[in-house]
Amino acid sequence: MSVTILSVETSCDETSSAVLVDGINIKSNIISSQVDVHRKFGGVVPEVASRKHLELINHVIQEALDEAGIGFNNLDAVAVTYGPGLVGALLVGVAAAKAIAFGLDIPLIGVNHLEGHVSANFLVEPQPEFPVICLVVSGGHTDLVLISGYGRYELLGATRDDAAGEAFDKVARVLGLGYPGGPLIDNMALSGNDMAIDLPRAYLAADSLDFSFSGLKTAVINYLHRANQKGVPVNKADVAASFQRAAVDVLVDKTLLAAQKCRTKTIMLAGGVAANRLLRQEITYRASREGRRVIYPPPVLCTDNAAMIGCAAYYKYLQNDFAPLTLNAMPNLSLGEDRY
Ligand code: KG4
Ligand code: ZN
Repeated sequence: MSVTILSVETSCDETSSAVLVDGINIKSNIISSQVDVHRKFGGVVPEVASRKHLELINHVIQEALDEAGIGFNNLDAVAVTYGPGLVGALLVGVAAAKAIAFGLDIPLIGVNHLEGHVSANFLVEPQPEFPVICLVVSGGHTDLVLISGYGRYELLGATRDDAAGEAFDKVARVLGLGYPGGPLIDNMALSGNDMAIDLPRAYLAADSLDFSFSGLKTAVINYLHRANQKGVPVNKADVAASFQRAAVDVLVDKTLLAAQKCRTKTIMLAGGVAANRLLRQEITYRASREGRRVIYPPPVLCTDNAAMIGCAAYYKYLQNDFAPLTLNAMPNLSLGEDRY
């Protein structure tokens, strides 16, 4: 008997809904991005995000069902991201999913957004050789995690200040490139010299698996201020390339260190920054020299989407891990944590 799950994701600025069969077969994955709305503010405005989710949610869910060629009555369960994220944005998805679960009398599955990002890798490789090291790099998180099985996580290290994606977004903003910054830096860096500007790499203690990106971000801001004061023209592509190289060097070094420490053969990348081309190339190349392999989802499954939530939900479904209809939005959940 196959399992059909409708999933909903509204934690930040994408309204998304997907239909997955058996946690692997993506029948639809509708993503309605609000980027154009938030771009004029230079970032996500929480109140605007919730309002937009409210306008879009029913249409996006209907489109996910239509594209999958099924109706509400074909669903075995409904899954939703309930944290971490923006509370007002999360509430829209949670309310919609609860209404569907109640109306159809089917199980409700609460999914941790970070577990969703990690699970995007299971859409590419459903049965990896556990344990694996996963680098979770998004707009809000930079975590190194040891995964010993589906749903079994141990946090090994995390950022002490800015998340990697936050640093990409901030640097893009000071360069006047726009929002969201990650893909813009990724593109612009292609035509720049990554050794043009000497930028700091924060390793903290030699064997530390924690990260820090605020010093790198500040160094870029200072470089631009100094150039501006001296009236020296700035080569934006060189700044983008040098920044990206510094950030990627640290991400790759620490992920490989974690894999060495834990003796894992497989490495996974998850979260929006996992779409970064230099990160994907560099870690694949360096891991292969150590006899390790790297798995990462296609870019559309790295950034926020409901298919990854449906995949995570499938493993919870198999364990009868269902949420009560009192499920609430939890803006501060960490990976491996569930509160319902
Ligand atoms: O996972 P995600 O879509 O949302 C969060 O859960 O935060 O991640 C968004 C972050 C943003 O900071 C965005 O700039 C970054 O991922 N990002 C990238 C790339 N694509 C998205 N960063 C670097 N290179 C990219 N190609
Ligand atoms: Zn995300």
